[in-house]
Amino acid sequence: MNESAVTDIPKVKTLPDAQTVTEVTHWTDRLFSFRVSRPQSLRFRSGEFVMIGLMGDNGKPLLRAYSIASPNWDEELEFYSIKVPDGPLTSKLQHINVGDQIILRPKPVGTLVHDALLPGKRVWFLATGTGIAPFASLMRDPETYDKFDEVIMMHTCRTVEELEYGRQLVENLINDPLIGEMVDGKLKYYPTTTREEFHHMGRITDNLENGKVFKDLGLEPMNPETDRAMVCGSLAFNKDVMAVLEGFGLREGANSEPREYVVEKAFVGDGI
Ligand code: FAD
Ligand code: A2P
Repeated sequence: MNESAVTDIPKVKTLPDAQTVTEVTHWTDRLFSFRVSRPQSLRFRSGEFVMIGLMGDNGKPLLRAYSIASPNWDEELEFYSIKVPDGPLTSKLQHINVGDQIILRPKPVGTLVHDALLPGKRVWFLATGTGIAPFASLMRDPETYDKFDEVIMMHTCRTVEELEYGRQLVENLINDPLIGEMVDGKLKYYPTTTREEFHHMGRITDNLENGKVFKDLGLEPMNPETDRAMVCGSLAFNKDVMAVLEGFGLREGANSEPREYVVEKAFVGDGI
């Protein structure tokens, strides 16, 4: 990391809603995760998002929506982020270091919450790219395993290295002395790539439609009586997955009207 990049981060102690960065991990040249201090008063439901950002050059906060990737019992907050080369926020945010401050508006909202789903036996978490962030929270939440007998995490990226954040998260979860027992046998992780050789490949939509994921995991096909789903990816991905889920007879729900599946955009725009 070069020095000029580091000095781009405002070192002002009086940022409104300032939180301190405690950890930064770079996964690829397009992806990183970081942890920040958690405002004592912040309560959130796993799967929700908040607005975070930095002070802009014009002296006004530059904020973007970010899913909270950490579970609600964690003392800190974790985020998993894209690095958009010319992105107003992430061209700077990608240079944060431990001790820097970010702005965090403590008003969590979102549709990827347990309250928006009817009770069921299995829950499917369907994500592409950084869309895994809300599920990084939900997969670490005991409520997920209280509510469902089986939790299936399907995550698809173009390349193997883009899956690494999710892979390590699941590995740590399974080996965790406290949570591991709760997760054991219930969490089924099904990562795939679409543009690099990997042991499982293909788009989530295709693997659901052609039944490959059910066959590989030894599961019955989706059924509106037993299955619930949460979806987070690009607009095009969400639209296509919704059609597949509707094909299995699942209907979209919301906080105000719980049903069989819920959807959230991982970002606005058609991709980079
Ligand atoms: P922007 O001007 O915001 O984006 C520029 C372009 O980059 C977009 O038009 C789009 O084509 C592309 N882009 C933006 N974000 C992504 C992304 N995540 N993956 C692939 N392409 C992208 N981003 C995260 O990295 N992590 C999150 O947890 C996250 N949660 C979000 C939750 C919600 C509800 C929404 C609406 C967005 C979320 N985003 C998340 C996107 C985030 O708000 C910003 O768009 C992103 O941080 C880039 O900001 P920017 O100012 O650098 O560029
Ligand atoms: P593919 O490589 O076949 O386009 P991106 O990096 O463009 O955001 O995509 C992330 C992952 O989501 C890629 O593996 C991509 O597959 C997949 N994907 C993109 N659009 C769709 C869609 N409409 N339906 C299913 N999968 C999609």
